[in-house]
Amino acid sequence: MPLRLTGVRVGVLTGGGDCPGLNAVIRAVVRKAERHYNDEIVGILDAWDGVRKRNTMPLSVDRMRGSLPRGGTLLGTRRGSPFDTETGVDEVIASFAELGLDGLIVVGGNGSLSVACRLHAEHGLPIVGVPKTIDNDIVGTEATFGFDTAVQIATDAIDRLHTTAESHDRVLVVEVMGRHSGWIATYAGIAGGATVALIPEIHYDIDEVCERLIMRHERGRLASIVVVAEGTEPPPGSVETPDKVYDEFGHVRLGGVSELIARQIEERTGYETRVVNLGHVQRGGTPTAYDRILSTRYGLAAIDAVHDRAWGDMVVLRCTEIERAPMAIAAGRTRPVDMKLYREISDLFFA
Ligand code: F6P
Repeated sequence: MPLRLTGVRVGVLTGGGDCPGLNAVIRAVVRKAERHYNDEIVGILDAWDGVRKRNTMPLSVDRMRGSLPRGGTLLGTRRGSPFDTETGVDEVIASFAELGLDGLIVVGGNGSLSVACRLHAEHGLPIVGVPKTIDNDIVGTEATFGFDTAVQIATDAIDRLHTTAESHDRVLVVEVMGRHSGWIATYAGIAGGATVALIPEIHYDIDEVCERLIMRHERGRLASIVVVAEGTEPPPGSVETPDKVYDEFGHVRLGGVSELIARQIEERTGYETRVVNLGHVQRGGTPTAYDRILSTRYGLAAIDAVHDRAWGDMVVLRCTEIERAPMAIAAGRTRPVDMKLYREISDLFFA
């Protein structure tokens, strides 16, 4: 008889915006927990809301069948923090005891990991993090799952947009997500052969953008693709921008800057310019093979971290290895684009 370990009871939740690969993480956690550690895994529905309301579902290898290629999260997700209400944190602490949790795995982006980090540091809750976001902007890891899928979706869209732009001699301004980091814009710009990619890390110069477009036109290239990251901003004070709107994590709601840029291009160059905002399609649907594999590796490492009682840590990717790093290094920060790569590509290819 093989030796069976005595298991523990572990909760898992998904928080923040959904992202392709979440189900693959949960599946890997459940499989190793059940088959290797003999644990019981409790799925917590709708992120911190589910913890507070003790809204859960049992998870098992059987329950997870068929989930690997499915986008979204079978646990549901919400933005919002228990720290935002007077009783939220007490409710979370009470739920840990009530649900008999020995540990909790939080699969989330900057917002959810910041909450997890505080609950651990300030209230001693046994939590392990898994970094998730299409934005690829979490400090401490070289990659988050969901990013590769988002880049592939944006690249496929740009490939299609080239042919319609060429048929009509148009400039197409393609807005992609990414919050305050230009990872999706840079990677999709490279992979899609864009003329320009504008990113939040640098205030764009509309005259420089138009100069590039005009030079292309003079060489007979009458169609161009301008990729714009949603967090891109004009130089301060150069144009009037609408008042900011914030989400439940206090993050500014982005989107729409491409309309301004398209208008500026058309006014300055006279070239017919249209906007394509890819929006939530970048987050939907099946994860790429790369994201399925990264998610699976993160899930396996997360349940190992629980058994090592590595509370306050998150699993991260460094030089192809899965390691651990304190969640505190990610809290309240974002990882900017590799500017060396951006500048080299920008000089040689974006033109
Ligand atoms: O963080 C992921 C992300 O998709 C960002 O790229 C985007 O700004 C934001 O979430 C959109 O959030 P929501 O789903 O709340 O509209």
